[in-house]
Amino acid sequence: MKKTAKANSNIALVKYWGKRNEQIILPTNSNISMTLSGFNTTTTVEFSSDYKQDQVELNEQNLSEGRELEQIVKHLDLIRRQAGMEEKAKVVSKNNFPTAAGLASSASGFAALSLAASKAAGLNLDKKELSILARQGSGSASRSVEGGFVEWLKGSKEDGSDSFGNQIAPPEHWPEFRMITTIVATEEKKIKSRAGMKQTMKTSPYYKGWLDTVEEDFNVVRKGILDKNFSVVGKTAQKNALKMHATMQTTLPPIIYWNPATMRILHSVIEWHESGMDCFFTIDAGPNVKVLCLEKDVEELKKRIEALDGVKEAIVCEPGEEAKTIEKHLF
Ligand code: PMV
Repeated sequence: MKKTAKANSNIALVKYWGKRNEQIILPTNSNISMTLSGFNTTTTVEFSSDYKQDQVELNEQNLSEGRELEQIVKHLDLIRRQAGMEEKAKVVSKNNFPTAAGLASSASGFAALSLAASKAAGLNLDKKELSILARQGSGSASRSVEGGFVEWLKGSKEDGSDSFGNQIAPPEHWPEFRMITTIVATEEKKIKSRAGMKQTMKTSPYYKGWLDTVEEDFNVVRKGILDKNFSVVGKTAQKNALKMHATMQTTLPPIIYWNPATMRILHSVIEWHESGMDCFFTIDAGPNVKVLCLEKDVEELKKRIEALDGVKEAIVCEPGEEAKTIEKHLF
C-alpha cells in the first residue's frame, strides 16, 4: 500500500490557457510541452486504516489547511473512488526546485502524486488513464506523465475521456534541444494559473484572438518538432507565449507576472537573436524566463544570461523522461 513515484516538470511550447470545463479540467485549446530533465517531484503515498485523516507533507512542511491541501485530498478522493477503497493516506512530497514560481511544480507534483497514489491503491492504470487522472489535479500534469515532447489534446467529449497527454516524440528524438531556465524570483506568485486563466476568459478582449490563432501555433510547433526545425519551433513558441501574456495583461484587473529582470532577459534574447544567435524565449505564469536553444549554443548563452542584472541562476534542462515509480520511499 506504499508506493513512490518521480515525475519531471514540463514547460509548454504552445500554452494551455483557459478551461472549457473547470471541474474535470478540460482545456479550451490543445497544447504542447517538453518534459524537462532536472526539475522533478518525488512523492511517496501510503494508504492505511491506521491513518484517521489524510496527512500531507510538502517540502518538509505539514499542510494543516488551505487550498493546496484541499486539492490533494480531492485528488486522493478521486483515486479512492476509482479503487473502491476508503483508507486515508499519508503523502510526503519533495520538489528539487522552488514551488509556484512559474516552474510548473503543479505539473510534476500531480503527475508524481497520481502515479504513486494509483499504484498504492492497487490500480494499474495505463499511460492514457494516468494522464486523465493527473489532468484532474492540474491540467499541465497530464503532460508530465510522458517524456520528451508531449501534446495534450483538448478533446471534444464532455466526460474528458479524449483529453490527455500523448507523446509526440521521445527525448532521444531531439536530444540537442535545450531550455535554460532563468531564476529571477523564487517567491510564490500572487495569482495562480487557475485564477489567472479564469479571469482572462471572462474579461480580456483579446482572448478571442488567442482562440482563433492557437490551433495554428499547435500545428506548426507539432510539425516543427517532428522535423527538428529549431527556428520554426522557437519562433512560434515565443510568439505563442507573448500572445498568452497579452491576453492576461488585458484582463481586469491586469495580471503582469514580469519584473524588471524578466524584461531585461526578454530584450536581451531578442537582441541576441537579431545579431545571429539561435535563441528564443518562452515564459509561463511567473517571472522566470526559459531560453530555448540548441546544445551548441548553451555555454555561450548561459554565460550571457548569468551576466544579466537580477538573474540569480540559469539552469540548463534537456528533454526529460516520463514519470516512473522508484523503490526509495520518502518515509
Ligand atoms: O496546469 P496549471 O494550472 O499549472 O496551468 C499551466 C499554465 C501555464 O503554465 C501558463 C501554461 C502551460 O501550458 O503550462
